Amino acid sequence: MKITLISAKIVPEFHRQIGSELEAFLQYLAIAAYFEKAALPRLAAYFSRQAEEERGHAMRFLQLLVDNDAEVVIPSIPAPEGEFRDAEHAVTLSLERELRVTEEIHSLLRLARQENDFTSEAFLHWFVKEQLEEVSSVDQLLKMIQRAGNQRLLLVEDFLARPHPTNLAKGEEGEGG
Ligand SMILES: [Fe+2]
Ligand SMILES: [Fe+2]
Repeated sequence: MKITLISAKIVPEFHRQIGSELEAFLQYLAIAAYFEKAALPRLAAYFSRQAEEERGHAMRFLQLLVDNDAEVVIPSIPAPEGEFRDAEHAVTLSLERELRVTEEIHSLLRLARQENDFTSEAFLHWFVKEQLEEVSSVDQLLKMIQRAGNQRLLLVEDFLARPHPTNLAKGEEGEGG
């Protein structure tokens, strides 16, 4: 017997969201490579970690579809932006992407509510909190880069190397790269 607890209407929207999360995964890989090439290893590590998180987000949606015996479709992913004027440009792009994804999550949640799809609604609550964390972390990083200026990014590197109680340093503990 096929057991599906999520609404049929939301399934294609979840497919689209898998694409969006994978798009973010690729974009953050490209940004990590950019910082690696600029000899800014802490910034590179920050974006590598972000990339891994995005992959994890895509996997969560995928698993929800599998658990519901729903159709799994992974859409084709556009190539990420590979060239950046400077650090501020790369991080601004990340913040814009996070804000866009937040909107996407909110409209998925609206649809789940319209459909009385409580399973999807509960599933999406985790993402609502996650987006707040990510938007705030990237926003802090952007402010820091703007304050330091593109010429003094070693100050930002220095900050990222320190243990810090904010989201920005999330996952820094036991930092090995
Ligand atoms: Fe994400
Ligand atoms: Fe994200």
